[in-house]
Amino acid sequence: MTAALPAPRRPDRYAVGLVCLGNICRSPMADVVLAQRVDEAGLAGWVSVDSCGTGDWHVGQPMDRRAAATLAAEGFDPSRHRARQVDAGWFATHDLLLAMDAANLRDLRALAATAPRGAEALAEGRVLLFRDLDPCGTGDVPDPYYGGDDGFTEVLDMVERTAAVLVDRLHRRLWTTP
Ligand code: 4NP
Repeated sequence: MTAALPAPRRPDRYAVGLVCLGNICRSPMADVVLAQRVDEAGLAGWVSVDSCGTGDWHVGQPMDRRAAATLAAEGFDPSRHRARQVDAGWFATHDLLLAMDAANLRDLRALAATAPRGAEALAEGRVLLFRDLDPCGTGDVPDPYYGGDDGFTEVLDMVERTAAVLVDRLHRRLWTTP
């Protein structure tokens, strides 16, 4: 059973943020795939998608070349991504923050403790694990950074099937939101 989506904070926008460690592999892959699926579903006027890392090492850099190649091989455009680091403002601006692994979730929760609307975001279930929405499993999206190309394919599979669930939920949410 996948997690329920938290309610929109505003009537005109639903902002989804994907969060990993470096913002050059997992969360940008999820960002590009989800944004593409949101667009295809006709939801781009309502749903925004972006991503960030908990660390600052790669800020301003494009996606890891293996992540970019894996996306490009499946017809996605990785070229616009530039890495960013999360800050305390994300808890106020986003309806849903999805952490790629348990360490990212722990770091986000720690940041939320000092952030405006951070406690509210946690209480409202706005900070979840990405795979809480995966129809085929739970837990971490494994970090592919130190591994081989297979790791990136595995991430893309998880991201594609989870993005499909998320878009379906967002679509239903749009039609049930007053
Ligand atoms: P990501 O992967 O969190 O999926 O972007 C990583 C990227 C960089 C590093 C670790 C993980 N790093 O240690 O620089």
